[in-house]
Amino acid sequence: MASHRAFTLYTGARMPAVGLGTWRSEPHQVENAVKTAYDLGYRHFDCAMVYENEDEVGEGFTQCHLARDKVFITSKLWNTEHQPDRVAEACDTTLKALKCQYLDLYLMHWPLAFVKDPSKPVTSAKDANGHPVLDSKATLAGTWKAMEKLVEQGKTRHIGVCNFTVSQLKQLLSSSKIKPAVVQNEIHPYCPNEEMIEFCDHHGIHVTAYSPLGSMGEPRVRDDPVVQEVAKSTGRTPAQVLLAWGVQRGTSVIPKSVHAERLKENFDDTFMLSQADMDKMSSISTRARFCDVRDLWGLPKNALFDN
Ligand SMILES: NC(=O)c1ccc[n+]([C@@H]2O[C@H](COP(=O)([O-])OP(=O)(O)OC[C@H]3O[C@@H](n4cnc5c(N)ncnc54)[C@H](OP(=O)(O)O)[C@@H]3O)[C@@H](O)[C@H]2O)c1
Repeated sequence: MASHRAFTLYTGARMPAVGLGTWRSEPHQVENAVKTAYDLGYRHFDCAMVYENEDEVGEGFTQCHLARDKVFITSKLWNTEHQPDRVAEACDTTLKALKCQYLDLYLMHWPLAFVKDPSKPVTSAKDANGHPVLDSKATLAGTWKAMEKLVEQGKTRHIGVCNFTVSQLKQLLSSSKIKPAVVQNEIHPYCPNEEMIEFCDHHGIHVTAYSPLGSMGEPRVRDDPVVQEVAKSTGRTPAQVLLAWGVQRGTSVIPKSVHAERLKENFDDTFMLSQADMDKMSSISTRARFCDVRDLWGLPKNALFDN
C-alpha cells in the first residue's frame, strides 16, 4: 500500500506525511524495520547520529535498492557537533553511515551545545554531577551558518531545527540566510504545540511531529480515554487515530516501530478522522512532554539557547 499523502516544503520539495522513526531501534532490528517499511511503501526515514544506528539504517537502504530520488531522508546534527568547524564533518559521518550522497533534510537536533568528550563518539564531557558540560562558545547563529554551507555544498537539500521554541525560531529567522524548511518538535495530544504550528504556518515552515504516538512516556497517550473512544467508534487502533490526527493538523508524523504488523498499521493511508473526532481529540486537556532537557540530561530549562 503506497502512501500518496505528502506535504510541500517552501522549496517545492515533497515530504511524505508518514515517515519511519528510528530512535531506540536496536541496530540488529532497525535494518529489518527499514526494509519492511520500504516494502510497505514508506518513503520517508527519520535518522540521527545520536541514535547510533545510522550504519544499519544505511544497510537497510542498500538492501532495499531504494531509488534515492523517491525517498526523503532526514538526519540530525548532534549537540556535541555545534562548533562551526565540526558541522560538515558530522554531516559527512552521517552520509557515510547512511550510504547516501546527500540528505533531504539536516536538522539541528537541539538548541543546545555540549562540550565533546573527544574519546567517544556522540558523547559529551560531564560535570561533577554527571550532567553534560555546556559549550558556552557555540551560538545558534554560528552553527546555523555552518549548516547553510551544507546546502550550498549539496550535502543536504534542506536544513531545519528540532526542539525549538517560537522565541528561538524568531531569533534564528532574524539572522539566517536560508530559512529553516522544517521544525521537528514533540507533538501529540498531550503536547499539541499549537503556538509553534501556527507560527510555522504563517512563515511557510513545515512542522514534523515527533513522538506522535506518545513515545514510551507515561501517562500513555495511546491509553487516553478519548483516544480509545475514537479508536473504538471508528474501528481503528489508537495509533492510527493519533497519526491521522497529526496528519490532518498539517504535520508530518514519524512513528517508530520495529514490528512488521505495527509498521503496516502505522502506514494506513485511507483513514481520516471526522471534524467531530478531530475536535474531540483536540479537546484532550492532559499535558505531558516526554522529551525534555530536565529529564534527558538533568539540565535546567534555561540551559537552552534563548538569546
Ligand atoms: N528530534 C528529536 O529530538 C526527536 C526526539 C524524539 C523522537 N524523534 C524521532 O521521532 C520518532 C518517533 O518518536 P518516538 O520513537 O519517541 O515515539 P513514538 O513513535 O511516538 O512511539 C514509539 C513507541 O510506540 C510503539 N509503537 C509503535 N507503533 C505502535 C502501534 N501501532 N501500537 C502500539 N505501539 C506502537 C513502539 O514500540 P515498537 O518499536 O516495539 O513497536 C515504541 O515503543 C523517533 O523514533 C525519532 O526518529 C526525534
